[in-house]
Amino acid sequence: MSIRISVIGTGYLGATHAAAMAELGYEVIGVEVNPERLASLSQGHLPFYEPGLDEVLLANVRNGRLRFTSDAAEAAAWADVQFLCVGTPQVAGSDAADMSYAFAAIEALAPHIKQGALLVGKSTVPVGTTHELQRRLLEIAPDRTDVRFAWNPEFLREGFALEDTLHPDRIVIGVSDEADADTLRQVYAPMITEGIPLIVTDVTTAELVKVAANSFLATKISFINAMAEVCEAAGGDVTTLAEAIGHDVRIGSRFLGAGVGFGGGCLPKDIRAFAHRAGEIGAGPAVAFLKEVDLINLRRRERIIELVETEIGSVTGRRIAVLGATFKPDSDDVRDSPALAVSRRLHELGAIVTVHDPKGVENAERALPDVAYTTVVTEALSGAEAVLHLTEWREYRALEPKDVLPLVANPFIVDGRNVLDVALWQNQGWTVRAPGRTL
Ligand code: UDX
Repeated sequence: MSIRISVIGTGYLGATHAAAMAELGYEVIGVEVNPERLASLSQGHLPFYEPGLDEVLLANVRNGRLRFTSDAAEAAAWADVQFLCVGTPQVAGSDAADMSYAFAAIEALAPHIKQGALLVGKSTVPVGTTHELQRRLLEIAPDRTDVRFAWNPEFLREGFALEDTLHPDRIVIGVSDEADADTLRQVYAPMITEGIPLIVTDVTTAELVKVAANSFLATKISFINAMAEVCEAAGGDVTTLAEAIGHDVRIGSRFLGAGVGFGGGCLPKDIRAFAHRAGEIGAGPAVAFLKEVDLINLRRRERIIELVETEIGSVTGRRIAVLGATFKPDSDDVRDSPALAVSRRLHELGAIVTVHDPKGVENAERALPDVAYTTVVTEALSGAEAVLHLTEWREYRALEPKDVLPLVANPFIVDGRNVLDVALWQNQGWTVRAPGRTL
């Protein structure tokens, strides 16, 4: 009999995982507590923007392999493998991860969970979570020693969520029993046959792999942004520096994009939660550098404002166009978005800010209602005394500088992502500034 799969929590991670598992041919049930999200998913509509995922979701809802429910008990009693994909956001006023959704899920599942089911955590969590979940389950249902636990971190990137889920760089499985590894080998068989590396380890290491990977990526970005600060002080060019060091295969050129820094629902909160958890277990000094990684990243947002003020003076009462609201292109996610943080700061300083974004306006308006928004780029540019390119949507690179020049009051642009063709913009009459570069 085919393995039945449940996915508890169908946010970005869970919705993608549920659709991907159904696409692999499994019968899947997704558990969602938010009624709006549930209604949308049940009709096969993705409640967020992710290229290519909506078609797969709809196809699998239509063919009946994928369905959604708000009833955790139903899913718990039905599925053989139960993936825990709930959110672990940052606690307000603390660096710790909020584990309340994970703990609530265990409480909801515990009394009903199928005999011998395997509970597989995928969310990014503080190390020690698997043991804590097991402890809580046994507290509620002391006789349920049959329930198995595993950890299987997810490394998907927004914008590539489906591709990363179906064809990941690696599969990491943390188990305390080889039989549980076999169950997951069976689940992921189509990928394993494709030659995707499989790492089987203990649950603790599996939990740590995820936070270590995200910490490394954040550190790499902050490293190059630290070099941008040095370039600014010394008069160098960080983009050339990044290209030159990136040729060394030991360093590699990816994630060396200097600019306004990283944001999103993962990297910022994950490095904070990791440092917090390391402190709790007596390993604080080992990852104290993550505090510095965070500070370098946040300083880059201020740097964008400095570049504007150096060029046009005080921003109070000045019209500023911000290109991009999302934390990265090909997403509608504005969580901890550097572009929105800069927009908020400009607004606080009294600037008249208009933000353009192709997909993120709705979410951005909710997060920062005080500035103006548009989905028409020429509207944002109209009358602007400074243009800030803060999210590298493809359409911004496609702008013809001479065509948009007549729209603005002052042809001045800050390339906060260091991806525009600076010579082209300059040749067509624009003043260009960029973090980490002397232009
Ligand atoms: C990240 C991890 O990449 C992924 O493996 C994990 O599962 C979730 O967190 P994601 O948040 O989708 O994925 O975004 P990512 O592509 O990693 O970018 C994060 C941030 O870093 C974005 O704001 C991006 O603009 C920024 N970034 C990325 C840079 O500033 N410079 C770079 O060179 C690369």
